[in-house]
Amino acid sequence: MKNEIITGLDIGSTKVRAVIAEKIDRNRFKILGSGEADCDGLLKGEVSNIISTAESIKNAIKAAEAEAEVEATNIVTGISGENLSSIRSRNYVSITNDEQVVTVDDLRRLKSDIQSISFSKDMTILHILHEEFFVDRQGSVSKPLGVACSRLEAANYVVMGSSGAIHNIRKAVKKAGYEVSDLKMQSLASASAVLEPAEKDLGILMIDIGSGCTDVLIYQGNAIRFSRVFGIAGNRVTLDIKEFLSVIEEEAELLKLDYGYATESAIIKDDLITVKGVGPRPSTKIPVSLLTQIIKSRVAELFKMINNELEKADVKNKIRAGIVITGGGAWLKGITDLAEQVFGAPARIGLPDESHFEGEFGKLNKPDYSSVLGLLLPIEEDFSSDDEGEEPKKKKGFFTRNKAEKPVKQDSKTKSRSKFKDFLSQIKSQFDDL
Ligand SMILES: Nc1ncnc2c1ncn2[C@@H]1O[C@H](COP(=O)(O)OP(=O)(O)OP(=O)(O)O)[C@@H](O)[C@H]1O
Ligand SMILES: [Mg+2]
Repeated sequence: MKNEIITGLDIGSTKVRAVIAEKIDRNRFKILGSGEADCDGLLKGEVSNIISTAESIKNAIKAAEAEAEVEATNIVTGISGENLSSIRSRNYVSITNDEQVVTVDDLRRLKSDIQSISFSKDMTILHILHEEFFVDRQGSVSKPLGVACSRLEAANYVVMGSSGAIHNIRKAVKKAGYEVSDLKMQSLASASAVLEPAEKDLGILMIDIGSGCTDVLIYQGNAIRFSRVFGIAGNRVTLDIKEFLSVIEEEAELLKLDYGYATESAIIKDDLITVKGVGPRPSTKIPVSLLTQIIKSRVAELFKMINNELEKADVKNKIRAGIVITGGGAWLKGITDLAEQVFGAPARIGLPDESHFEGEFGKLNKPDYSSVLGLLLPIEEDFSSDDEGEEPKKKKGFFTRNKAEKPVKQDSKTKSRSKFKDFLSQIKSQFDDL
């Protein structure tokens, strides 16, 4: 096989997924094989148990290799969790070539300048994404290559991950017998797989609801405008069902998958469903609407928390095309209805865009595969991934830069916990009355 082999590896809180593909061109991949394995080595999206995570990684990759009949190479893995943070930083370079036009080398110099800044001791830069370019202090240009000017300035969106979290991912992959060749912020990967170019241009909010964490991203004007990770996702909903219906976790998960809705307005028929008792506790019957109230309270809380953060960051006005929901949590019936109620914008489910894939893609065309498939795709605006392996040459004294803004920690703690607890106690008392 002459084409390059690339492997996407999504280390998730419930599942590790591996996809091996042959690169046909920059944006098109032939899926050769895939594999998944249960995983319990993560806490809120971050690797905490290296040994058990390594075992899951090994099982998922081995299954993919068996199907693909090739070795997994060029492993690109994702990183998520509240350790991620982002910062905005501007810098510029002087254009000194004889033609006085912007070259690839100038873009690389901009990038290498940012890379040389130590924003925080314990953080490692993952991506340097341009938000905007400005030439000669005048107008903004989206594609600066070839533009005649004497000075090129960039507004950059810099994504960082904690060095400890990155180290744990690399260590777990190594322990599984493989090597990480590239690491990407998970939400950027999912966005590459599910968002349409027109949505990225007009303005879109993407929400990837996993098991341990929810990754949120806004694209507008073909540039990233906001990213944040919230430590609330599908598993928290399951634990609420477990706690308030007094069932074991597996039963709570089944109830959610089989009968759960995100909002009462999506319920087709409010049937009575059986809830299996534990030990001496007898089985009972509850209406689907009661299960839905438990689910809705937590998912609505998550959406409201996201909405508050968007308002605080003053980016709500950027989501003109609406909302795309992906990740395993997108399977929850009525999830788009609830999102529309909370955010007041149209919502759709995000599936991996089939124009990028061929081969064994059919069975992966699901929202829980957005992230692993997106890891195969290039991140267009990322200069760190379009180099041909050549290190940019740095010219001393060539740069001046403005001060970076304060880093934004990508977590958000629940402040409305007590309100939420009150509501759940109400539901619990309704259940106890049955
Ligand atoms: N049919 C369904 N209805 C409701 N929820 C579902 C359904 N199918 C899967 N989920 C939920 O999706 C979540 C798993 O999503 P996903 O596979 O994207 O997570 P992950 O990648 O393992 O975790 P993370 O990205 O948070 O580390 C689980 O909480 C699961 O309950
Ligand atoms: Mg995930």
